Amino acid sequence: MAPSFKLVANAPKADLFVVPVFSGAVFGPGAQLVDDAIDGKLAEFMAETDFDGKRGEVLAVPTGGRLGARAALLLGVGDEGSFDATALRRAGAVLAKRASRVGSVATTLLDAVGPDVDPALAAQAFAEGVCLGRYQFLRYKSEAKTSQLQRVIVIGKPNAKVRAGLERGARIAEAVAWARDLINEPAAAKSPAAVVDLAKAVARASGLKVKVFAGEQLVRARMGGVIGVGIGSDRPPRFLRLEHAPAGARGTLALVGKGVVFDSGGLSLKTAGGMETMKTDMSGAAAVIAAMSTLRDLGVKARVIGYVPLVENMPSGNAMRPGDVLTMRNGKTVEVLNTDAEGRLILADALSLASEEGADAIIDLATLTGAVTVALGDKIAGMMGSHDAWLTQVREAADRAGERVWHLPLPDDYRRNLDSEIADLRNISTVSGGGTLTAGLFLKEFTADAPWVHLDIAGTARSSAEDAETSKGGTGYGVRTLVELASNFRKP
Ligand code: BES
Ligand code: MN
Ligand code: ZN
Repeated sequence: MAPSFKLVANAPKADLFVVPVFSGAVFGPGAQLVDDAIDGKLAEFMAETDFDGKRGEVLAVPTGGRLGARAALLLGVGDEGSFDATALRRAGAVLAKRASRVGSVATTLLDAVGPDVDPALAAQAFAEGVCLGRYQFLRYKSEAKTSQLQRVIVIGKPNAKVRAGLERGARIAEAVAWARDLINEPAAAKSPAAVVDLAKAVARASGLKVKVFAGEQLVRARMGGVIGVGIGSDRPPRFLRLEHAPAGARGTLALVGKGVVFDSGGLSLKTAGGMETMKTDMSGAAAVIAAMSTLRDLGVKARVIGYVPLVENMPSGNAMRPGDVLTMRNGKTVEVLNTDAEGRLILADALSLASEEGADAIIDLATLTGAVTVALGDKIAGMMGSHDAWLTQVREAADRAGERVWHLPLPDDYRRNLDSEIADLRNISTVSGGGTLTAGLFLKEFTADAPWVHLDIAGTARSSAEDAETSKGGTGYGVRTLVELASNFRKP
């Protein structure tokens, strides 16, 4: 169960009192109370224990029950001048990890942000940090140590916007946790059909319209990419369309997510090591479904449509072969020279449908290329696109959401590396460098020049280490950006 948040003016009783300390051992709000409880010895205690408020540092202070809390925890939050929403999200996550053995925490953290930080956004970021820092995937552990933290008491002036921010952050984090659970789930338990069933349950609970294409319906919808990639698996493909259609909506935003429930590479088989994490190749799909689940609760005014192709990429006697040609939904033909470049094939159909249905702007999220991790590592997603105003809108949403993106180019003159001898396009480049960019250029062929942005999340979708609000394993990267984007959507 996610913890509840309460905003109160004075510190009530709680198990733990958490106060921020800035770099240079500068007292944050509430530190004076801790100092008073230990007879003015706090500065000395910090010096003796070599604690000086660096970001992420923590120090427990035994206060002998003189505070209303059983103990106090000093949280290093770094430079006072740069304590913004992103730093607060991090601090919330560190707090949640350190407080996992207590039931309640009272904290003055929210009071530590500077006057130029929007208090509602700060509250949202803090709640996200706490809930995400607390996340664990324990489904398959026989001895699960779940976090005990149930109540977070935020000390601050009564303010409806701050209360709403806390609620909003908790709701968004719940969606991120849902995405993480699905991403971390072994592939055996998440066939395309099973993901559709889960999405239907989510849609029912959050007022989304659902349409599912299966079997003959995929043929009639001319989804050549989805059918081609999915044909080698005993677990057949699906195409999921979710719609949030509030009355009087102005503008339609299309969200597209790559949903490869397992990527073996197909006949162009991956190595054993390369396959280890390929249950997470549906992270784009999970992010789209999760983000859409929040739209009604958050009162999003724009019409938002999710397009989610779901396949399993497997080798078999019936699998597509290198050299086969597929005809995509928009009529373009693709020579498949490497069956492991499958994401772009299923996205081709999804982008075709999104642009055909008249979306005012499109964003896709896909664990598309290993190359993006070479360039940007696992904390920054590659962002490509064709339309400056839309790119800016996405970048600003990602910044507010605290998810990092970096703009990469789509060089026109690289397009010739996707020329096929016999079809309109080939699915891999003829040259070895710039794999992320040629994947982006491939996708662009299916967007009918609508404003479109592509996020390559192959690096960010998964983390090999726990780091504040970023969990080990599936991260749910993109959910926060998509929610932010939908909430503030303007036709570009
Ligand atoms: N799902 C992979 C990309 C990937 C790799 C995601 C590593 C996360 C970690 C994608 O389908 C793929 O296999 N891409 C190939 C493309 C190549 C064949 C042009 C790649 O990156 O090697
Ligand atoms: Mn692949
Ligand atoms: Zn893949």
